[in-house]
Amino acid sequence: MTQSALTDQALRTPVLRRSFRKPYPVAVRGEGVYIWDADGNRYLDSSGSAAVNFIGHGVREISDAMLEQARQLEFVHTSQFTTAIAEQFAAELLEFAGEHFRGGAVYFTCGGSESVETALKLARQYQVEIGQPKCHQVLSRNQSYHGSTLGALSVSGNRKRRDMYLPMVREFAHIGIPYCYRCAFNCTDGCRNCGQQYAAELERTIEESEGQTAAFILEPISGATLGAVIPPPGYLESIADICRRHGVLLIADEVMTGMGRTGRNFAVEHSNVAADILVTAKGLSSGYAPLGAVIASKKVVDAIADGRVGQADSQECLPHTESGAFMHGFTYNAHPISVAAGRAVLRRLQSQKLVAAADSERNGTAGSALKAALEGLHDCDVVGDVRGLGLLWGVEFVRDKKTKAPFPPEMNFAGLVGQACRKRGLLVYPMQGCVDGIAGDHLLIAPPAVITDDQIRWVLEQLRGAIEEAE
Ligand SMILES: Cc1ncc(COP(=O)(O)O)c(C=O)c1O
Repeated sequence: MTQSALTDQALRTPVLRRSFRKPYPVAVRGEGVYIWDADGNRYLDSSGSAAVNFIGHGVREISDAMLEQARQLEFVHTSQFTTAIAEQFAAELLEFAGEHFRGGAVYFTCGGSESVETALKLARQYQVEIGQPKCHQVLSRNQSYHGSTLGALSVSGNRKRRDMYLPMVREFAHIGIPYCYRCAFNCTDGCRNCGQQYAAELERTIEESEGQTAAFILEPISGATLGAVIPPPGYLESIADICRRHGVLLIADEVMTGMGRTGRNFAVEHSNVAADILVTAKGLSSGYAPLGAVIASKKVVDAIADGRVGQADSQECLPHTESGAFMHGFTYNAHPISVAAGRAVLRRLQSQKLVAAADSERNGTAGSALKAALEGLHDCDVVGDVRGLGLLWGVEFVRDKKTKAPFPPEMNFAGLVGQACRKRGLLVYPMQGCVDGIAGDHLLIAPPAVITDDQIRWVLEQLRGAIEEAE
């Protein structure tokens, strides 16, 4: 690879970029698992950008579907019209989400953070509609990430992304998260028995809120913050049971894990759990257009559709609220071109059987090949843990394997590995903070489901080389 694409750029340009400290290559083309920059350098996208791309780059039928929609009707406002494409895609998505969402409804947004904001407000309005106007708190977990808008940040636990904005966010309680490699209960059995203990903290916290908890939000499998940490057996079931007993809605944030990424349509399907609200984005459009979705179960939708708010017995609580309408909206919700992209992506994902391809528990799949290849990294001196499911994997680096001591945060070890990968033409998603929000280094690997065995072998060769270079 030439250096020019990485270095021959001014650090200040008209675009307010993510960082002023590093140059960015100019991307010009994508195809399959590859992205090319303006200098002709090719990168294998082994993190699907940020666990976004699932169907592969450059799929013509997606851009064709978007073009067709744009030519016919580019936009209408959802306060004035619905569109056939939004109605069709919502019905298909409810079907994809499974039996539990029969009779429910889908709210389309432009991405993950907007979807989380929507889910928080939907949960609040649900509680008001069913006569629980006191319920407004949304509980969540430490070391989680639910988005960058202020509401989503308030329920996130990612210290680096939150600390600056804490004076601006309304905070509710966060509970501990089962992170088996560094279990808070120091168990030695892969948290087989401590799932209940972690879940019990939710029950105590709900009780402490004195009837004010509206919902609990969690990533069924941790995304970027902890790096693909899987919950211990029974944990999600206990969480769902506690929520149900206390009338608290369970929101599953599947922005990263949804739409097949973990080898199931949604990651909650690995457990016997049904969320009241599913939130998804990223893989929903595979990056072809800004798109997110909130998939609400019938119970939630019925409460709002048949709303009691504004009726005589609830006038005292919220006299100015209109009943039978969701008090929320974005100009671009259910944007026809984004929805057309999402619908074409779902069709592609089904016709190419990509959810099955992502299943790491099934022999002969991309998921199982990636799992076997990454688990081989255990023999590296600095690889402490390899964890994940489907096509969502985390590799955690440690300075000392015995004590699990992390590298000093200022060393930015994950960043060094990421840079060494990039020099070799491999894109990964490096993160810091898995130990305590600041220390701890890991990479997220989440390739498109069209990755081949040869490409996986090449990824691992480069990754090993990059780890050795960073050591
Ligand atoms: C679990 C989860 N929720 C929400 C978000 C926010 O999504 P977006 O960046 O599309 O706003 C992300 C983004 O990484 C995520 O991983």
